[in-house]
Amino acid sequence: MRNKSEIRNPKSETRRAAGHRLVRIFGFGLLSGFRGRAGLLLALAFTAAAAAGCRRDMFQQPYSKPLESSDFFQDNHMASRPLVQHTVARGHLEADEVFYTGKIGTNLVETFPFPVTREVLERGRERFDIYCSPCHGRTGEGNGMIVQRGFPPPPSYHIDRLRQAPVGHFFDVMTQGYGIMYSYAARVEPADRWAIAAYIRALQQSRDATLAEVPAEQRAKLEAKK
Ligand code: HEC
Repeated sequence: MRNKSEIRNPKSETRRAAGHRLVRIFGFGLLSGFRGRAGLLLALAFTAAAAAGCRRDMFQQPYSKPLESSDFFQDNHMASRPLVQHTVARGHLEADEVFYTGKIGTNLVETFPFPVTREVLERGRERFDIYCSPCHGRTGEGNGMIVQRGFPPPPSYHIDRLRQAPVGHFFDVMTQGYGIMYSYAARVEPADRWAIAAYIRALQQSRDATLAEVPAEQRAKLEAKK
């Protein structure tokens, strides 16, 4: 068993020592530099305030960052442990194949793993505008700002092939990447990937919905505008 002072981070030790020294030098400098009572009081107040910050044992506890090198474990010389073989980290079971891959076996799914509500679509729009619109454009036409500045253009979401693609395809493209488009798995949570897929469906729908598909109350409004 190591005692506390051995495992204390040497860096913070030296920083602490340097801090003490500074306080002493400044305190002394101020004490000798200020004349009169007001000056003395000011100098004392400063020294007290600065010295109060010195004992910070509970604030600066010894700790290691996960990938930092460390001699504590002799097998991998890192502060963190490798995952134990044949185990699954808590929260990473990912047993729901459809939800995490958009597929059943090798077949892309045609339906969403949860009901698509207005909230889901709004979340999807927000995430789409953040992560996808720079290339795909806000309307999914493939003319986002990065493309306008020279990035290879992605296909429009409104081409027949993508309109007929099963929704699992969109989830899969975000999860795995596609061609020169890299994966968004690390940046967009699975539930958000589904929300984005739902919003892409809404974008596609917005291009060829018929008046008959508009709910009756809104249809009246549209017709009044004509
Ligand atoms: C940095 C630019 C960029 C961003 C950001 C981007 N994409 Fe793409 N995307 C592309 C390019 C380029 C292609 C064409 C890739 C190819 O065919 O090699 C593409 C292709 C696609 C396709 C069509 C795949 C097919 O079957 O042809 C889909 C769907 C897609 N992206 C969805 C998304 C979604 C959803 C997001 C946001 C999470 C996103 N992309 C973010 C550049 C981007």
